[in-house]
Amino acid sequence: MRAALYDRYGPASEVLRVDDVETPQPGPGQVRVKIEASGINPTDWKSRGGMTPRTIAGFQVPHHDGAGVIDAVGEGVDPGRAGQRVWVMMAAAGSPWGTAAEWSVVPQEQAVPLPDSASVELGASLGVPAVTAHRCLFADGPIEGKTVLVAGGAGAVGHFAIELAKHGGARVITTVSGPEKAELAAKAGADLVVNYREPGAPDKVRSFAGDAGVDRVVEVALGANLGLDLAVIAPGAQIACYAAEPADPALPVRACMNANVMLRFVLLYGVPRDALAQAARDVAAALAAGALTELPVIRFPLEQIAAAQDAVEAGAVGKVLVIPG
Ligand SMILES: NC(=O)c1ccc[n+]([C@@H]2O[C@H](COP(=O)([O-])OP(=O)(O)OC[C@H]3O[C@@H](n4cnc5c(N)ncnc54)[C@H](OP(=O)(O)O)[C@@H]3O)[C@@H](O)[C@H]2O)c1
Repeated sequence: MRAALYDRYGPASEVLRVDDVETPQPGPGQVRVKIEASGINPTDWKSRGGMTPRTIAGFQVPHHDGAGVIDAVGEGVDPGRAGQRVWVMMAAAGSPWGTAAEWSVVPQEQAVPLPDSASVELGASLGVPAVTAHRCLFADGPIEGKTVLVAGGAGAVGHFAIELAKHGGARVITTVSGPEKAELAAKAGADLVVNYREPGAPDKVRSFAGDAGVDRVVEVALGANLGLDLAVIAPGAQIACYAAEPADPALPVRACMNANVMLRFVLLYGVPRDALAQAARDVAAALAAGALTELPVIRFPLEQIAAAQDAVEAGAVGKVLVIPG
């Protein structure tokens, strides 16, 4: 099959190439997916660049996320799954068979049925972002009737955090850096969109949240936003932080104590298996209910894998997909 791959860390244009490799066969408990679109996340270029290195077993086909159709199943998997449309998550975690190729193999639970109503583009966008958003939103219990603040609501994680929070029955406030992103966040269904770069952002969030304050925060930039978060949260609120910043933030311990805040850190690679399975079920249910939508899509052919990863690293607005076929 044709596959993008790398066998050492480095800049995209130096280490990524497209080559012929043997088509993988599904092992016990695995399915093989004919990939129609491969979704790129920041973790993919960070791994390839060596910033967050993961062991390379000979070579690595990049990308965790994708969508396609199951065309072969391994021992112990229901043969009826062959022909099923699926979205794929975490394909490259502990495996050389990422989704930037014509085929990928994954444990069967990492290939989740994709309803006919959902596009391939949406399916390929879900994995890492939607599951991360789910973990940040729900690790501390249901959010029905609660007020949730999503930092960076036009980002991939932020987008699904807005949509999953609305589907979960929350009021949703989100922050963005400008009008283009404000439009995307509003389209995702946020009840209030605030430009965090403009003066008065905390006041706008507070007045919308009311006296009770914000119950839960999904945070992409803890150091930059902790001041705002502490200014708007309810006593005992949870802040779930899923992204690292260039420098470790200083923690204002007294202010955190005053707020009785709970800081939760989320890294998908260490989320318990039962929580991942629950996230997959809940994301599938939200999909079936029509509650999830795709961000604007930027497509690259497989041969332009390096340009595609560079576009993500440069902060492309929307979702960058690689099309293997
Ligand atoms: N822990 C995990 O398991 C996990 C899982 C997924 C992603 N991540 C990490 O999370 C980060 C985001 O991933 P992504 O896929 O959502 O990326 P993305 O699609 O590029 O979105 C990032 C968003 O964050 C916004 N942002 C940056 N600084 C902000 C600030 N101070 N306040 C509010 N918003 C801010 C950006 O917009 P503006 O700069 O225009 O505001 C952008 O819309 C990446 O670093 C990624 O590696 C971690």
